[in-house]
Amino acid sequence: MNVIPIHTARPQPPGANLPLDTLGRHISDLRISVTDRCNFHCTYCMPESAINCGFKFLRHDELLSFEEIERLARLFVAQGVKRIRITGGEPLLRRNIEQLIEKLASFPGVEITLTTNGSMLAHKAKALKAAGLHRITVSLDALDDATFRHMTGVDFPVRDVLAGIDAAGAAGLDPVKINMVVKRGANDHAILPMVRYFRGSGHTLRFIEFMDVGTANGWKLGEVLPSRDIIRLIDSEYPVEPVNPKHFSEVAKRWRYKDGAGEIGVISSVTQAFCSSCTRLRLSSEGSLFTCLFAQKGHSLRDLLRNGGSDAELSATIAGIWQRRDDRYSEIRTDNTAGLKKVEMHYIGG
Ligand code: GTP
Ligand code: 5AD
Ligand code: SF4
Ligand code: SF4
Repeated sequence: MNVIPIHTARPQPPGANLPLDTLGRHISDLRISVTDRCNFHCTYCMPESAINCGFKFLRHDELLSFEEIERLARLFVAQGVKRIRITGGEPLLRRNIEQLIEKLASFPGVEITLTTNGSMLAHKAKALKAAGLHRITVSLDALDDATFRHMTGVDFPVRDVLAGIDAAGAAGLDPVKINMVVKRGANDHAILPMVRYFRGSGHTLRFIEFMDVGTANGWKLGEVLPSRDIIRLIDSEYPVEPVNPKHFSEVAKRWRYKDGAGEIGVISSVTQAFCSSCTRLRLSSEGSLFTCLFAQKGHSLRDLLRNGGSDAELSATIAGIWQRRDDRYSEIRTDNTAGLKKVEMHYIGG
């Protein structure tokens, strides 16, 4: 296997008057969580044991309305956002989500994408495409029902998620990205079957190292399978070579099969942190802004929004939050930081 350094993209100049954080990073990606609820209970995100321990989901009136989200999103775009990803929880659980997508898709030059567990995608794919969604990412951790049940905590047939991926492709949302979180000893045996299934399909399978997001998932370093081991495993059966990133802040490192059967990706937050190019902001479903996936607290924009704050005041608040940002959690992670009281992934968005 030839290993070539691939993080060669250079930062794009953010443009005049756009805010930079304390480490010189600009804002280009906004991830909007539209609900903290989910119909799955993945062990690495929202295990049932944690929910049973009194976790309180938000009430509907606590969530930002679509009008509020659209207003904020427009202000973020003015601050440099080029890509918006809709997340959850499970975003397709939010009623009439297509209406929000339609509003966001009308912003010129902004890419709108969505991450879903795929359970409702077979019915929704056409409507999402019609609303203007550009791309979609589906989480899928195994192809066999037993491992899938073990990972997601629910008895849901894998074939229905696969039908959702097919429907997305047929609706024109291809290539679909498939996210597989890998937990050593839990679903690492599913890596090669997933590779065999998605090779040549036109879709892009990505392997995500199990991360210490939140506190509910009981993360242990020993359960992380480093992505270099994943690549080595795949390369031994289907030789792969690295591909240059498409843009500066790309999270996944891209690889392609040497026989032309398509691309795969690895997201190595634990073993190869990518904070130096992190241009992402996260807006929770109740309107709090988080400058890092591993943050312990957010900055509420909802009160300002609901108490008559002007666009200028909101924009100044957003810029100020970004300009004070010094996050680089994955670069400074230790056994001690893993236990900090961090916000949960299903609340902040993946
Ligand atoms: P595209 O390549 O444009 O499709 O976007 P993406 O790579 O950001 O895809 P996606 O949103 O599916 O992100 C993939 C996964 O990477 C997420 O589900 C997270 O698990 C992880 N991830 C995304 N952003 C960050 C980040 O800022 N920090 C860390 N540590 N992990 C992230
Ligand atoms: N580690 C890595 N990835 C995670 N995701 C959720 N929790 C974790 C975690 N602890 C991923 C899911 C999904 C996206 C929303 O985030 O697989 O693709
Ligand atoms: Fe739900 Fe996604 Fe979290 Fe799984 S990872 S529990 S599908 S929000
Ligand atoms: Fe960005 Fe925080 Fe992830 Fe680093 S750990 S890449 S700063 S979200």
